[in-house]
Parts: sequence; structure tokens; C-alpha cells
Amino acid sequence: MALFALLLLLWGNLLPFSAAVPLQTLQQLIHQADADAATPPSSYTPLPPSLDPWYRPPLTYDWTQTSPGRVLKIRQSPLLNLTVGNALLAYQLLYRSTDSAYNPAWDVTTLFIPRWQARCSASTPNLCAHALLSYQLPYDTCNVDASPSFGLHFGEPYGEIADALGLGWFVAVPDYEGPLASYAAGVQAGHATLDGVRAVMQVAGLFGLRVGVAKVGLWGYSGGALAAEWAAELAVQYAPKMRIAGVALGGLTPNVTGVTEFLNGREGAGLIPQGLLGIATQHPDAYRWIVSRLRPALREVFLSVRRMTAAQAIAAFRYQDIYGYFVGGYADLHTRVMQMMYNVDGFMGYHGVPRMPVFIYNAINDELSDIRDVDELVDRFCGVGANILYHRNTVGTHTQELINGRQRAFAWLRSVLDGSYDQLYSSMGCTIQNVTYNLAPWVGWG
Ligand SMILES: *[C@@H]1O[C@H](CO)[C@@H](O)[C@H](O)[C@H]1NC(C)=O
Ligand SMILES: *[C@@H]1O[C@H](CO)[C@@H](O)[C@H](O)[C@H]1NC(C)=O
Ligand SMILES: *[C@@H]1O[C@H](CO)[C@@H](O)[C@H](O)[C@H]1NC(C)=O
Repeated sequence: MALFALLLLLWGNLLPFSAAVPLQTLQQLIHQADADAATPPSSYTPLPPSLDPWYRPPLTYDWTQTSPGRVLKIRQSPLLNLTVGNALLAYQLLYRSTDSAYNPAWDVTTLFIPRWQARCSASTPNLCAHALLSYQLPYDTCNVDASPSFGLHFGEPYGEIADALGLGWFVAVPDYEGPLASYAAGVQAGHATLDGVRAVMQVAGLFGLRVGVAKVGLWGYSGGALAAEWAAELAVQYAPKMRIAGVALGGLTPNVTGVTEFLNGREGAGLIPQGLLGIATQHPDAYRWIVSRLRPALREVFLSVRRMTAAQAIAAFRYQDIYGYFVGGYADLHTRVMQMMYNVDGFMGYHGVPRMPVFIYNAINDELSDIRDVDELVDRFCGVGANILYHRNTVGTHTQELINGRQRAFAWLRSVLDGSYDQLYSSMGCTIQNVTYNLAPWVGWG
């Protein structure tokens, strides 16, 4: 032990930056980011996170000693304001967070500044933005190179970031699965989402957001709702001082093993290998167990999802029996090591009660997750004083509800962000409604 400590000390002294370089101020970080952007490389090509050295925490000081949400790096992206509509500028922030095991970790978020903000100045404060939407994009994969901070360079899938920017909101899009692409790991996703808001609020004032009066909303559908829901329920203990005005959640997946059973053999079966490997990145014992129990002839096929997007995995595993990939079948996914993992990261509703207004919209016939699990989650929260509007849509599938619910989600978010929520919605208790909204054309997976 003593020898080890000594070696560490010697090694520490040999490091080029061993004299702790002080943490830069946020102003210094932004100044540097803007200076770097003033001389853009003639042909800027973004690198995927696995190859881009920017996706590493700083080496010059012990970033693990900073507090959750502390911005560690900032860079401007000269392309994201072109590939995403209504954006004036786009910055990426690397910030400290906390993983599912409550160890220090880091994540990245992309902050979009709305076009409207160009009219904002010290003499026209009313034209400066006063809302931040943290928008959790569903990326549903254990492949870190499918993270939104990189993928958005090729456009946004649903056009919702551009619409939110069009309303004059700052929009932050966190890579809530983190550097390990921990798809379906609830605690990781919730922490990354909350710390993403903390990080953005540290710098947003310097970009002209009226932080003193600004309201913060969270939104997510499906995999994005997973992150936003975990943020909402973890906030009470992980970010007790953070003021979140409201959270909109669509297509919820409250029970990860329930989702597995629902999806197996169905069109979306490819999300199961993505989810198992994703959540297990936070649980190394379970990861080793999963890999060790794969049938040798099928192992590489199963593991190939690590290089796929969600849409690619869905195409590759459509209608397959995923339990058949395991030597012991279904039972292999319900051993003690697996159950312990699910208990930490896989069941919503056990970590706290959302203290902010919540809007939930779900298709009754959702084929990804049993609506009864959502009903149960809502009952659980409503029994202890939450303020929830819950729309159960009588028509549509999981994919259709994304579109069917979009306008309702926007209307609701506008009310919480502009302060008219109390006039337009019940701000006490729960309102549960069967509704019928049929706007979506049929759209396939992906
Ligand atoms: C995008 O941002 C860059 C700086 O990163 C800026 O030079 C450029 O004018 C912006 N483009 C648009 C269309 O706003
Ligand atoms: C999750 O779903 C499974 C399968 O439907 C069920 O056996 C289990 O009790 C559920 N767990 C929780 C915590 O709701
Ligand atoms: C919604 O419809 C279901 C039947 O599908 C019914 O059991 C339930 O009571 C209805 N809920 C409300 C709030 O009307």
C-alpha cells in the first residue's frame, strides 16, 4: 500500500502538468472558445466522440474534485447552427457529473442559442431569452458515436429543436447516456440531464439568457423521456436547489424488464441488445455476465449493436427472439447480478417524487412499453402529492404518439416556461384523461 502510494507520488511528479493548473473561469473558457471559432479550419469535419480527443476531461487538474455540473470545457461548433434550424450559435460543454454508481463522471451537452437572441442587448433586456429547454433526444443505442452532440451535425431527426429555438428558447441537448453510451441506465441519464442544466445555467447568462428570471423545462420522448423522468425523480435528492418549471414526458418506459418482455420477438427487438449492453456499461459484473452467457456462435452478432444506431439495430434484429442468443435463455437475464442492475437503473418511481408539474402523454396501445406500467407510475406519484396531467391517447402506436403528442407537449411547455401554467392547467394534484389525437401518418421505426 505504502509502496503503491509512493509510486503514485513519483509518477505524479513526472507528469508534465503536475503543478495543478488552476481551473479556468467560465469567462476564460468562453473567451477561448470564441477565439478558436474566429479562426475556423477551412474545411471543418466533426470527429465522432470515440475519435475526438475533445471528449476527455481535462488532464491539468483533478476535475473529479469539482462539483457536479461544473463546466470543464467549452467549444463553439461552427456547423451545428447550420444543420439545426433557427440557431444563432451552438456551443458544446463538457461538464462534471455522477454516474450510476455515484462516482465522478463527465458528460457533454450541446447548447443552441436562438436566432432571436441577436436582437438582445443591455438596452433591450425584454428581447433577451428567458427560458431554457433541456431537450432529451432519444438515441437508444450503446454506440457512443451516435451521441446527439455528434449526430446533430447531420441534422435533427424530429425538427423539435428548431421549433423550440423558433419560440426564442435556449435549447440544451445533453448526451445523457454519457461517454460509455449507457443506454437505459436511469441514474446515469438523470444525473447527466440535471448536471447538463446546471452547466448551461452557469454560462447562459454570459450569452444573454436572463438567468435571474429564466425558467427551465425538460422534455423527452421514449429514450429521451427515460432521461427526463429520471431527472425529475432524482432532482429532489441530487439537485435539491434546482428550480425546474416543468417536465414533459411522452412514451414512457417505467420498467426495463417489462420493456424487454414486450419487445422480444417484435419489430423493435433490436432495442433489447442495445439496452442490455447499454445499461450494463454502468454495471461491469453484469456486462461480463451478459457477454459470458452469449452462445459462442451468436456472440459477435449480438455484440455488433455496439457499432449500430438504434435504427440499424432495429433493422438487423427485427422480430427476433433475443433470449435465444443466451445459453440459458430468459433465465440468464434474471440472475442475481442482472436483477441488482435493474434495481439500480431500471425501474422508475423508486428514487423520489417529482416536485415540479409534469405532463405525461402516452398511447394506450404503445407496443414498446405496457401502458399499465405508466398508469402505475402515475398512481404512485399522485398518491404522494405530485402535480401531473396524464393523457392516455386512445389511438396510435409508440412511434405515432411522438407526433400525435408534439403540439400538446409544446403548448404545455410554453405555459410552464412563460408563466401561464397556473391559468391554463390545474396546478394541484393529478388530472388523468383518455384523449383522442390522431394526427400522425403511419411512420415506421427509426
Ligand atoms: C454559425 O456560427 C459561426 C460561429 O461558430 C458563425 O461564424 C456563423 O456566422 C454562424 N452561422 C449562422 C448561419 O448563423
Ligand atoms: C417489471 O416488469 C416485470 C415483468 O412484467 C415484473 O415482473 C416486475 O415485477 C416489474 N418490476 C417493477 C419494479 O415494477
Ligand atoms: C380510460 O379508459 C379506460 C378503458 O380503456 C377506463 O378503464 C378508464 O377508467 C378511463 N379513464 C378515465 C380517466 O376516463
